[in-house]
Amino acid sequence: MKIYAQGLSETAIAVKIKEKMQQMTLEEKIGMLHANGLFTSAGVTRLGIPDLMSDDGPLGVREDLKSNWASAGLTTDSATFFPNGSALAATWSADLARRFGVAMGEEARARGKHIMLAPAFNITRTPLNGRTYEYYSEDPFLNAQLAVASVKGLQSQFVAACIKHYAVNNQEVDRSGVSVTLSERALREIYLPAFKAAVIDGNAWVVMSAYNKFRGEYLGENKYLLNDVLKGEWKFKGLVMSDWGGTHSTVNAANHGLDIEMGSRQPYNTNYFADPLIAAVKDGKVSQSTIDDKVSRILWVMYHTSLATNAPAGKLNTPDHSKTVYDVATEAIVLLKNSKQMLPLNTAKYKSIAVIGDNATQTFHSGGFGAGVKAKYEVNALEGLKSRIGNRVELKFAQGYKPDYKNNYNAQRKEAANKPDMAMIQQAAEVAKNSGAAIVFIGGNREYESEGSDRKTLDLPFGEQELVDAVTAANPNTIVVVVGGAPYDLGKIKQNNHTIVFSWYNGSENGNALADVLTGKVNPSGKLPFTFPVKLEDSPAHALKTYPGENHVTEYKEGILVGYRWFDTKKIEPMYPFGYGLSYTNYAYSDFHTNKAAYKKGEKINVTLKLKNTGKYAGKEVVQLYVTKDGSKVERADKELKAFKKVMVEAGKEVIVKLELDVNDLAYYDEAVNNWVVEPGRYKLQAGSSSKDIRSLVNITIN
Ligand code: BGC
Repeated sequence: MKIYAQGLSETAIAVKIKEKMQQMTLEEKIGMLHANGLFTSAGVTRLGIPDLMSDDGPLGVREDLKSNWASAGLTTDSATFFPNGSALAATWSADLARRFGVAMGEEARARGKHIMLAPAFNITRTPLNGRTYEYYSEDPFLNAQLAVASVKGLQSQFVAACIKHYAVNNQEVDRSGVSVTLSERALREIYLPAFKAAVIDGNAWVVMSAYNKFRGEYLGENKYLLNDVLKGEWKFKGLVMSDWGGTHSTVNAANHGLDIEMGSRQPYNTNYFADPLIAAVKDGKVSQSTIDDKVSRILWVMYHTSLATNAPAGKLNTPDHSKTVYDVATEAIVLLKNSKQMLPLNTAKYKSIAVIGDNATQTFHSGGFGAGVKAKYEVNALEGLKSRIGNRVELKFAQGYKPDYKNNYNAQRKEAANKPDMAMIQQAAEVAKNSGAAIVFIGGNREYESEGSDRKTLDLPFGEQELVDAVTAANPNTIVVVVGGAPYDLGKIKQNNHTIVFSWYNGSENGNALADVLTGKVNPSGKLPFTFPVKLEDSPAHALKTYPGENHVTEYKEGILVGYRWFDTKKIEPMYPFGYGLSYTNYAYSDFHTNKAAYKKGEKINVTLKLKNTGKYAGKEVVQLYVTKDGSKVERADKELKAFKKVMVEAGKEVIVKLELDVNDLAYYDEAVNNWVVEPGRYKLQAGSSSKDIRSLVNITIN
């Protein structure tokens, strides 16, 4: 029998839950179903049931706040700042996602939190979404692998993962009003897989319902997605909490699957799941057993977290956590272009290097609207470079630009003031001219990419393009480092500049990680978790003009063709494709084969290939396996990611890479039978270094 948290079996937990519930009044039960503070809901003190403490999520354990969201002013709540979601996704490493979860779980424990409002992994449907940086990817498979590993890591510390935002919450514009409609197939194939995997394979204990509506009904009271799919089909045993202020009714929400109303306003007893719920039960509109189900789900989560007596104590800001953050950060950095082999930087060649751009000295642990973390420390890029090469090379800083906005932080369409500051640019160009090389830091920041708003364009903000142009003209040895959590229009830079690196809101170790990648201590291995389009209108939602919707309805007309699925199928050249990222070495793929030529349902497909590092640096390559169905009777994406593996290869060495998939992984969702169907016939398996860089292929048949 499986032994659970407290040393109690599931059966013993069920008995305990029943015992507690028998002693509770209706008022006490309903007291547990709504917030009694910003991040807490009530327990029952007389029965030894503590309050349930949650906290954001996903950048680290947020500082403690007063009920009006102001800082509580504590000195004990600084925490580790973890790289943002798309950074983690760029590592393509489930192992790092697990370590990320473990470390964050330890910090949550140390801070007395039972639920982390993380991970967040809504699909990147539009590159403009202000929360792209918080989320992982445009691909459901990569998304699911990372979600499961993060959840498992976090929950190994007896801290519940609250996976969010369930579901189809893919834009911030009109997020509380918009109703998303889409085909059942797109829902099942693109938007739900990571949630399903996190629940079934990751065993996530808590789910947060999203702000938006799905097919006309708010997610906080969406019978289909909460009761039928999540609690019915997937047999979810944990609790569903609303997003903050995302509850809109008493009876519907209670009957359709919501368990706790969060973000409730004071006085707390007036909220939907407080006195009005007591009245609804007394009126017979919500049954006693519905209430009991909710309370027992909450207690069940508690017996795995706060009421688990053998839970670890937790740890805050340890060197171990810094190491995890550093490993994620280094493996997330994506080398976009290195055509002059200027990287790794040979510091012996330069007496001085100009370090230019506001993002060289910016920190990213907080800013904008939404969750941040009071970082114990954050090494910015300039500090990182100073600590790594400052004793050998003179580093000369010039700010180059100042972030400035056309509209305030809560505008739904965030716009940067794009006026270049010519005096700052001139000064930066001057510094670059008098240095051996220049590194220009541009991109976004936590104010520009933010919850509550979407960006209006993909343009580089704040006159950054003009800065890059001037610095590049002043010094041909210019490296461009773009910092962001989402795609930007890098067209001109791609054309004019020889060295481009993409970095992220990369956690406490940001600057150290970046310096180590630039100088070659770490060979870059990050791969883009989403497509960078040449122009916005190339992206599916924008090409089909289905963003941000009209009259509070947005129809996902692109269906299953999200991200690279659209670009590949429609033969649209992206600026940088999904899965792309260079290294300081090269990898040769060979001997790609499967264990058989034909398979039946239920069988495993074993894929093997040889990967040789043909360069002089050791490195990690992400081997990606895409599948295509030849001559399908239904619409199919040209390629779908079905497996990947990140592998270390020493310089000059060859390794054997094995990947496994199940024949069932080749299924599509058939709306006619409302189920997954594996079509017989020929499938093309393609192994590559990105979605556009396919190195070998093999055909198999499914009988
Ligand atoms: C966000 C959630 C977050 C919650 C609590 C909401 O605005 O959508 O992701 O967990 O606030 O801070």
